[in-house]
Amino acid sequence: HQHRPLYGKKIVITAGPTHEPIDPVRYIANRSSGRQGFAIAEAAAEAGAEVILVAGPVHLTTPAGVIRMDVESARDMERAVQNAMPCDVAIMVAAVADWRTADAADQKIKKNGDAPAPLKLTENPDILTGLAKSNHRPPLLIGFAAETEKLSQHAAAKLAKKGCDWIVANDVSGDVMGGDNNQILLVTQNGNEQWADAPKHVVARKLIAKIAEHFQK
Ligand code: C5P
Repeated sequence: HQHRPLYGKKIVITAGPTHEPIDPVRYIANRSSGRQGFAIAEAAAEAGAEVILVAGPVHLTTPAGVIRMDVESARDMERAVQNAMPCDVAIMVAAVADWRTADAADQKIKKNGDAPAPLKLTENPDILTGLAKSNHRPPLLIGFAAETEKLSQHAAAKLAKKGCDWIVANDVSGDVMGGDNNQILLVTQNGNEQWADAPKHVVARKLIAKIAEHFQK
């Protein structure tokens, strides 16, 4: 058990962006690369966990020993996460689009006419909040928070609002999204922990070690 501290645990991880269709050829997206989520999935599998990785559209190879489910939109991701329950730990790393188009067009929108086609948006479900309130809430539920300012205040507020156990907060004002490194502030009910700037796979192993420690207590 020393080398596989998460043996017997089932962990569900979301990663990457979501794509929200505008029409058959266009979508709304964000700059998430999926690299941090994939690195966490890899570290969790190395620690012996059964890992289900719900991945938005990304160009990354599936880590060894990980079960991957590919999804496009936030609503697809929500469904896949629900279908993956129950689990011992859920880590919601995905940068889920907050908004989707109210109704995606069946055919490509043409640019005839002089006014641009208006985009009507509607709010996406919050997968993390939904899971926190559900009757199969995982015993350890972890959210991420990408912020550009007031990291600890925003992370603490998010912890309370979303009903999760930990928030892994990172400052994305630099080139974190798509970049190699990540600098983390881990926010839990027991206080905050500032981690040194490190490659995403190092951050992943550190988070997995924290989770293992949590279950050993
Ligand atoms: O509110 P914000 O998007 O900053 O919250 C980030 C956290 O919430 C992440 O863990 C993200 O995966 C999760 N989230 C979600 N569903 C959404 C929006 C965010 O699960 N629709």
